[in-house]
Amino acid sequence: MLAARAVAQSATDPLSCLELADVPLPEVAPGWSMVRVAASSLNMHDLWTLRGVGHPAEQLPRILGCDAAGYDKDGRRVVVYPIIASPDRGHGDETLDPQRALLSERHDGAFAEYLTVPTRNLLPIPENLSFDEAACLPVAWGTAYRMLFTQAALRAGDRVLVQGAGGGVASAAIKLALAAGAIVYATSRSVGKLELAESWGARGLETGGRVPEKVDVVVETVGEATWAHSLRCLRPGGTVVVAGATSGMNPPADLGRVFYLQQRILGSTGCTLVEMTRLLRMLLVTGVRPLVDRTMPLQEIHKAFQLMIDGDISGKVVINPALEGATA
Ligand SMILES: NC(=O)c1ccc[n+]([C@@H]2O[C@H](COP(=O)([O-])OP(=O)(O)OC[C@H]3O[C@@H](n4cnc5c(N)ncnc54)[C@H](OP(=O)(O)O)[C@@H]3O)[C@@H](O)[C@H]2O)c1
Repeated sequence: MLAARAVAQSATDPLSCLELADVPLPEVAPGWSMVRVAASSLNMHDLWTLRGVGHPAEQLPRILGCDAAGYDKDGRRVVVYPIIASPDRGHGDETLDPQRALLSERHDGAFAEYLTVPTRNLLPIPENLSFDEAACLPVAWGTAYRMLFTQAALRAGDRVLVQGAGGGVASAAIKLALAAGAIVYATSRSVGKLELAESWGARGLETGGRVPEKVDVVVETVGEATWAHSLRCLRPGGTVVVAGATSGMNPPADLGRVFYLQQRILGSTGCTLVEMTRLLRMLLVTGVRPLVDRTMPLQEIHKAFQLMIDGDISGKVVINPALEGATA
């Protein structure tokens, strides 16, 4: 089958480490299931792996892709919960299992015609959700769901600031927070991305711009470039939830502000299977959908990564192994 895999790592030339190859079909281990991939989507995580961040070199070669939707062996439409973990080892929460692995970390991922995952990781796709839409959800939308509703305990009427409106997690957070009845401010460096966020109902601000009121919750995935602004915009007792740091991991902590204003800083990673199930139900009842920037054949995977590197996208880039141009 055709698959896109990381064969090396380079901080400066990550795409030279991505190989499109014909590889053997995966074998199905006991308790696991085969999925015929109908759609997958790109995440920053795939790029971090190629850059050598957070992924040990001894795990190479590795088929990339953390998000997948497709058909199970009985032809049912399924979306893959992307964390391979034991809830028991995580005190009932897969994301707290010290041995957890995101799909494509220790097991081959979704940029392929087939993949195998534990059978418990397969969730039925609601009827009115397309494969392309479902493939955008597991990582970005699952992460945003947990940040808002579990970690920040968002309530209707809360004021939320989402940094980096164009991001996969950020745009999911904007749409989910609005659907939950929050007032949402969104920052971006791009006028086009701000206009898009405004078209969904958010109030757009240039990155670092003045928010007209203090907010209850900040959704932070940008890191160094926005951290100081996030703390400044937060009301006393408010919560910053941080799930990523695209622009750098080590901003000044500003501890005086944190303790004097009793700000809460919470880390967040992925979501549980139960949270992903709730996310699918929430989309069903609200009609909220992820934004697909475009769908590309697996054979154009290098071009797809380049679009993400250039930041030249609004919404998610979906990869479809059955699109014209790919092998059968
Ligand atoms: N913890 C988890 O489970 C988890 C899950 C998913 C992602 N993540 C992490 O979260 C981060 C975002 O992931 P993603 O997939 O949403 O990535 P993404 O789609 O590439 O979004 C990154 C966003 O950050 C903003 N940004 C980047 N550099 C910036 C800078 N110098 N100044 C201001 N804004 C900047 C951009 O917003 P604008 O273009 O709108 O300005 C960009 O859209 C990544 O670090 C990723 O590894 C973590």
